[in-house]
Amino acid sequence: MKAPQRILVTGCSSGLGLALCRELLQRGCLVAGLARRTELCAELSTQFPQQFSSYAVDVADGAALRAAMTAAVQHIGGLDAVVANAGMGIPSTADSMRMEDVRRVLAVNVEAAIHTLLLALPHVRRSPAPLLAAVTSLAGWRAGPGAAPYCASKAALAAFLDSLRAELAHEGIAVLDIAPGFVRSAMTDRNAFKMPFLMETDAAARVMANAVIARRSHVAFPRPVAALVWIVRRLPDCVFDFCARRIAQKLRRNGTLGVSKAASTRQ
Ligand SMILES: NC(=O)c1ccc[n+]([C@@H]2O[C@H](COP(=O)([O-])OP(=O)(O)OC[C@H]3O[C@@H](n4cnc5c(N)ncnc54)[C@H](OP(=O)(O)O)[C@@H]3O)[C@@H](O)[C@H]2O)c1
Repeated sequence: MKAPQRILVTGCSSGLGLALCRELLQRGCLVAGLARRTELCAELSTQFPQQFSSYAVDVADGAALRAAMTAAVQHIGGLDAVVANAGMGIPSTADSMRMEDVRRVLAVNVEAAIHTLLLALPHVRRSPAPLLAAVTSLAGWRAGPGAAPYCASKAALAAFLDSLRAELAHEGIAVLDIAPGFVRSAMTDRNAFKMPFLMETDAAARVMANAVIARRSHVAFPRPVAALVWIVRRLPDCVFDFCARRIAQKLRRNGTLGVSKAASTRQ
């Protein structure tokens, strides 16, 4: 089976995206990275000048995304795989939630991710190892309290991928759903609560790269959390609601429900 060689990754400037780019470059792939702060990729550009190129773009700006994708694909001579990884989260509760934040989360995590996949489709169609991939989250399998827009955005993206996978299978185009639990990154550094089985970024990037290279359809990690959430997903609603209510109560008591670390230190 052929493996993708020319790969575009959004959200390449930090966390999982940056580590994934490095991992793919070490495996000899040609990688184009998209993010707003591409200056944070300077080390990759120096280390892999022939293999890595980056494009400064806000993925929520449709015209800019299209232009960056065109330039990137031209530069690396086609496209085998895309990884729609760029994403964001704004912790909030029903009371603290602002519609402008909800819209921004959905614009980046759902609309821009879908746009990335759709813009990549005609290019990967011409590849001998075509793959469309996106980073969802275990938080999309069963939503917990304190991040409703984020959980909803990831569940929406996962559903989109399922539908696309069924449609494109007959063309041999693989559609991969990458569902991480807690992985160390700028995003999780802001969490004020204790994160079970927090995974190191490089370890997560290795798992992601393996799934991309093998053109799998699903990958979820770390394994213990994925297994637990898999079971939780199958609990009767009344049991799940009872447990989720208890978690919300506990977070409310210790003041971390829908609160980021910066905000909790300010209080
Ligand atoms: N870390 C975890 O535990 C975890 C768990 C489940 C899912 N995820 C998902 O994994 C993905 C990566 O997150 P991370 O943890 O690595 O967080 P991170 O370190 O904050 O990285 C987020 C990346 O997305 C990019 N990005 C965000 N908004 C963008 C925009 N409008 N345009 C272009 N790029 C944008 C950022 O680049 P710029 O700011 O430079 O634009 C950055 O490179 C996200 O989709 C996240 O939801 C993470």
